[in-house]
Order: sequence, then structure tokens, then C-alpha cells
Amino acid sequence: MRKTWVGLAALGLAVGGCEQDETRPNFEYAPDMVASVPYDSFAPNPNTGDGKTLLTPAKGTVPRGHLPLHLLAGPDAAERAGSELRNPYPSSPEVVARGQTAFLRYCSPCHGAGGLGDGPVTARFSMPPSLLAEHAVGLPDGRIFHIITHGQGLMPAHGSQVAPEDRWKLVHYLRTLQNPARTARKETP
Ligand code: HEC
Repeated sequence: MRKTWVGLAALGLAVGGCEQDETRPNFEYAPDMVASVPYDSFAPNPNTGDGKTLLTPAKGTVPRGHLPLHLLAGPDAAERAGSELRNPYPSSPEVVARGQTAFLRYCSPCHGAGGLGDGPVTARFSMPPSLLAEHAVGLPDGRIFHIITHGQGLMPAHGSQVAPEDRWKLVHYLRTLQNPARTARKETP
């Protein structure tokens, strides 16, 4: 019986505590999270040379892990990508597996899981070329990287969806898909 009274008293306090005085702010139990201590990214900053919080990167520097691509869209740049860019990642089972994940996610809807150009989207979209055909087999790695990055003709650009690292890994996976055709091509005199 006593316990019930204590319980009811606690409930009364809890309900009473919910009444709000709208003219006073509520209790801030973690004030550092309400009022940020560091400067906001775009706030003026009296401590930096140019008065901005976000500093401009020093000239000629690149962020760690960033693979810069100096080539823009267009056929001339695609041609240059083919002759200038080299795949920076050596092939390995992990690299190929990562490339396969990216291929199945981003490319197979159009090009098909086997790269034959027969993905489910072709029911409503014109059929893309087979990636196992002689033309695609003969494209240099850098050219394929450029096609993924900027797109080509009806193929949309995938630069914003697929990280540069994964684009190169995708090229390795594509080569394993193409392998029988590539071997046959090399053997033909
Ligand atoms: C929306 C459908 C679509 C998606 C998604 C797509 N492609 Fe394509 N792809 C095309 C079409 C259409 C072409 C032909 C472009 C043209 O007109 O030259 C093409 C062309 C290509 C070519 C050049 C083939 C050749 O013989 O010239 C390559 C390589 C390629 N795609 C790779 C990829 C890869 C890798 C992905 C995934 C990141 C991908 N594509 C995603 C539709 C697509």
C-alpha cells in the first residue's frame, strides 16, 4: 500500500514537471551541442589569413587518397585518357570482387550481368553495345575509365556514383569478363 502512494506521488511530480513556461528556455543538459564551440564551416574567422574558416587548399596539392582526373568530357579527352591513363591498382581477387560489385550495381541494368548488352533496362531503352564485342575489348583501360566517369553518347556519366578507385577496379573486372575474347584476339595473327 505504501509503495502505491510513493508511486502516485512520483507520477504527480512527473506530470507537474511537464508544464512548460514558454517564456524561458528549457534546460540545456549538453550546451556544447546546442551552441557549437568550433567555427562553422562558412562562418567568418578572425584567425585565418583570408578571414574564412574553410581554408583554400595550398596550390598544387591534392587531398590524401584523391585521384585527380585532369581530363574533361568529350571525344578528344576520351582519346587522351586512353593513351595517358594507367590503371594504378594491380589486379587481385579482392580488387576484381570489388569491381564485380560495382559492375552488378551500376552497369548490369543496361549492359547485363554478363556484359552482353542485354540488361533488364533494354526492354525500354535502346540496347547498349556488348562489352565482350571486339570494339569494347580493344578499348584501352584509360578510355573505359573515361567512359565510366563522363559517359558517352546515350550512356550517362557515372563519375558521381562510382568512386575513382572503384572505377579502376571495375575495369579489372571487365577484363576478366572479356578474358576469353581477349585471349582469342591476341592469338589471331
Ligand atoms: C543507362 C544505361 C547504361 C548504363 C547504366 C551503363 N551503360 Fe555503358 N553504355 C550504354 C550505352 C547506350 C552505350 C553506347 C554509347 C554510345 O552511344 O557510344 C554504352 C557504352 C559503353 C562502353 C563503350 C563500348 C564500346 O564498344 O564503345 C563501355 C566500355 C561501357 N558502356 C561501360 C559501362 C560501365 C563500366 C558501366 C557501369 C559503370 C556502364 N557502362 C553503365 C549504356 C549504359
